[in-house]
Amino acid sequence: MTVAAVPIRLTVNGRARELAVAPNHTLLDALRDDLRLTGTKECCLVGECGACTVLVDGRSVDSCLVLAAEADGWDVTTVEGLAVDGRLSDVQHAFLETGAAQCGFCIPGQLMAAHALLADVPRPTRAEVEEGLAGNLCRCAAYEQIIEAVLLAARAPEAGRHETEPGGDGAEARERVDVAALPDARVAPQ
Ligand code: FES
Ligand code: FES
Repeated sequence: MTVAAVPIRLTVNGRARELAVAPNHTLLDALRDDLRLTGTKECCLVGECGACTVLVDGRSVDSCLVLAAEADGWDVTTVEGLAVDGRLSDVQHAFLETGAAQCGFCIPGQLMAAHALLADVPRPTRAEVEEGLAGNLCRCAAYEQIIEAVLLAARAPEAGRHETEPGGDGAEARERVDVAALPDARVAPQ
């Protein structure tokens, strides 16, 4: 018996999309298979690793746990939507700067979780970063660099950091911030 596809409309990275999705397909399936947005990673499929994290109305969501049909009307941002006009976000820059991206598999999810955290808590403490990213696992164990990157990104506006072209070194536009030397008491001891 053929199961009828479900028509949905949603906005993905600012673009209105119309899809016909299988009733048992997840939002992750729809993003990767239907829209070919493969930056969102598929891993545990049970909500434990965070590799599939996307933003829905600015909040982080495990896209493997949501049926695509439920996403009708949603506003979804994937990692492909973070760079605007070819320019990386401050969070992406910070991940590059601290060397947080090792094998890179977990990084899209980490970036989305970091964006959600900083939208909620613009100046997080280290403990708040740890808690905010607790659902995102990194099998390369680059947790120190990832935490440093989020703290660095939180300082980006006042440190005068700017976006640069992806792939460029951006040295002229970036100002290295030594997180360990920050006088801010909100950065807890490491
Ligand atoms: S693939 Fe969704 S949480 Fe692991
Ligand atoms: S950088 Fe390899 S899994 Fe996180």
